[in-house]
Amino acid sequence: MKYGFFDQNSREYVIDRIDVPVSWTNYIGVKDLCGVFNHTAGGYLFYKSPEFHRITRFRQNGVPMDRPGHYVYVRDDDSGDYWTLSWQPVGKSPDLAKNICRHGLSYIKYQCKYSGIWGEQTLFIPLEDPVEIWDVKLRNDSDRKRRLSVFGYAEFSFHHIQIDNQNLQMSLYSSGSSHQDGIIEVDLFYEAEGFQYFTAAQQSTPAQPAANEQHGVNANAYFDCLRDAFIGPYRSETNPIAVEMGACSGSSELGGNHCGALRRVVELEPGEETRLIFLLGEGNREAGKTMRAKYSTSNGTNAFSAVDAAFTALGDFWKEKLAKLSVSTPDEGMNTMLNTWNLYQAEINVMFSRFASFIEVGGRTGLGYRDTAQDAMMIPHSNPEKSRERLVQLIKGLTSDGYGIHLFSPEWFEKQSTPAFKSPTVVPLPPKSQRIHGIADTCADDALWLIPSIVEYIRETGDLGFADEKYPYADTFDPDTGEGTSETVYDHMKRILDFSARETGPHEICKGLRADWNDCLNLGGGESAMVSFLHHWALTHFCALARRLGRDAARYEEMAAKVRQSCERELWNGSWYTRGFTASGRAIGSPDCKEGRIFMESNTWAVLSGAASPEHGKTAMDAVDQYLYTPYGLKLCDPAYSEPDDEIGFVTRVYKGIKENAAIFSHPNPWAWAAETILGRGDRAMKFYDALNPYNQNDKIEVRKIEPYMYCQFVAGPDHSAFGRGHHPFMTGSAGWSYFAATRYMLGIRPDFDSLVIDPCIPPSWPSFSVRRVWRNAIYNITVENPHGISKGVKECRLNGQAVTCGSAGAEIPAQNAGSEHHVVVVMCD
Ligand code: NOJ
Repeated sequence: MKYGFFDQNSREYVIDRIDVPVSWTNYIGVKDLCGVFNHTAGGYLFYKSPEFHRITRFRQNGVPMDRPGHYVYVRDDDSGDYWTLSWQPVGKSPDLAKNICRHGLSYIKYQCKYSGIWGEQTLFIPLEDPVEIWDVKLRNDSDRKRRLSVFGYAEFSFHHIQIDNQNLQMSLYSSGSSHQDGIIEVDLFYEAEGFQYFTAAQQSTPAQPAANEQHGVNANAYFDCLRDAFIGPYRSETNPIAVEMGACSGSSELGGNHCGALRRVVELEPGEETRLIFLLGEGNREAGKTMRAKYSTSNGTNAFSAVDAAFTALGDFWKEKLAKLSVSTPDEGMNTMLNTWNLYQAEINVMFSRFASFIEVGGRTGLGYRDTAQDAMMIPHSNPEKSRERLVQLIKGLTSDGYGIHLFSPEWFEKQSTPAFKSPTVVPLPPKSQRIHGIADTCADDALWLIPSIVEYIRETGDLGFADEKYPYADTFDPDTGEGTSETVYDHMKRILDFSARETGPHEICKGLRADWNDCLNLGGGESAMVSFLHHWALTHFCALARRLGRDAARYEEMAAKVRQSCERELWNGSWYTRGFTASGRAIGSPDCKEGRIFMESNTWAVLSGAASPEHGKTAMDAVDQYLYTPYGLKLCDPAYSEPDDEIGFVTRVYKGIKENAAIFSHPNPWAWAAETILGRGDRAMKFYDALNPYNQNDKIEVRKIEPYMYCQFVAGPDHSAFGRGHHPFMTGSAGWSYFAATRYMLGIRPDFDSLVIDPCIPPSWPSFSVRRVWRNAIYNITVENPHGISKGVKECRLNGQAVTCGSAGAEIPAQNAGSEHHVVVVMCD
């Protein structure tokens, strides 16, 4: 069963059957003002932080599903009938109303045909201003004149999510609303600069609302600032009293729950179209006035040319990013994901770092060390500034012992400015003892991810100088002076590698500590294969950088050799790679285990890290295919745990087939694709890729339930009754990793310090593919030909017709001058 399709031209996912089983979400805003909304305009808006500066309210995990939202109601003032452009919350029967939702890149269009009126509401946030624009268009497709009232409605939140949910005795009485000059201003009086506004502008002067007089209400009241006045008692957003009556009541108050509700009156002759905008923004009435003036600027006949220009600029912003890498392969699903949705999701993850969605509803902000470090590695080509910003934040979140602070606010490690006025919503800087945790609370993998991220950033940008920039360590940092013991990025990397070398257990495998990548494997002093393999991967990246910088890497090359030996000696169990050891020395993920016999992480990372021998690597990945493959992707482990075992961890307390307990956990799947390409098995890599690709679930929504344009955190595994159902879309490390593994390993286009490497591993059935890659401001139009139907091997490469040397690691195209454009032809051969 399907509910929509990928519109390749507009780069939109079009939901043309609107009653999807669960919310299908999207993000708007790419800077400070951001929102997350579903296919029916339910969702919320925040400024910088969804925890501390929430603008509109969201009743998470509630019924009716995912409300309130940013709604446009349309009312026929002759009949009294009304509907919403986004289908819900009024929710006319799909037999009578045709609703479409178009999820685009940082915008959403809700389209509706009902009762002879076509309408559209576009939500987006301009690149330059902290204002959400609701661009509303209406057309009279009937053969009679129509008199309509249009209501824009959103419910305001108290900024601090905790204050919005608790302690209402304070917040309810120190916030107020007022209407003046057509602008609703909400004043969070308990904050120094706590203001929001809601206003509107219309293409032509509104007709007088005479039609409403018949209801005996105040025909001229066209606003409500009080939620309960607009909605009415014993009602909901489905049937607000104001919309039903056809007029607002002009409510406002000091104290209470506030909303932005504005009514505009529209008259349309048959065939006539009109346009109006609602603006919801950060700041006070003056800010609203400025934004209204700016976005009502007309250009000739176009009353909202400034809105159109802002929308076009947003489109160009994404076009430019996506143009950094575009592919044309025989796999339509891969093209669709890599050319649009996968990079979009990876970028959104870097922007919101797991703290704003319908699942992560804003109570936990800050940066998760490992997630952020991995996310930052995936987008240096499309967003080098953001990548660098995140890397620097993580470098500052590293302790001098060499471990990372698992979850932290970047502000903790910036010089503090004392607020002039302390309101209850000012979040105090936690004392140092709460900012810096000890080793027992350290996740053993966290900081190791940072090293490849830094090195990949340098490979992408050529910014070798980054390695020598100096930053303080988190535990030495004094927020009052803004100072601490500073060392170079290069030295930070050494401390991370030394920490992992030091923190090993009896088998000389890295300790698991609070957890490794797998949050639910809590081994404490037990040992984690994944961390040792990751240590090896980080060492190979570091040594490559050291060599490029002409520095002595001998100590770390020896360290890598030692890690390899310990891993082969202790982890190869004859069938695959053991996942680890508990503190009492029991093996996990080995053939002798009754449950949790085989895990994805140890086997994929054995290969990916370069630590496994090719022969063992092949056998291990064959076992992954044999025991972990399902048509929806690879399971994390098998068999699922059925009994709690606290020496292993929380994974044994999660139901079978979901989350880390043998679900198809998306994030490690791309590790398997990459591992298979290292082994040269393009068919196997593609089989795994296609199984996980959400695009391939588009027609199976009765099983999948969630949106097919996004990777999700996990898909229920065969042990669960809902096998195949996706969970937690959007905010997941699988976004970046899918992109990284597919582009760098499967298609094999990898930047190195001085050259662009082309080393694909594809299904033998692919006759060719092409990639357009922008690298350091030069364009490479790459065609890879596969005349012999093989998976891996590059024999011949021509750059603008000139032969380029090829080796076992593929073709290496020397970096070309910025601004130049080149043609590269690669021929595959054993
Ligand atoms: C989700 C967490 O955000 C991530 O850090 C972790 O690696 C995975 N779960 C797996 O446990």
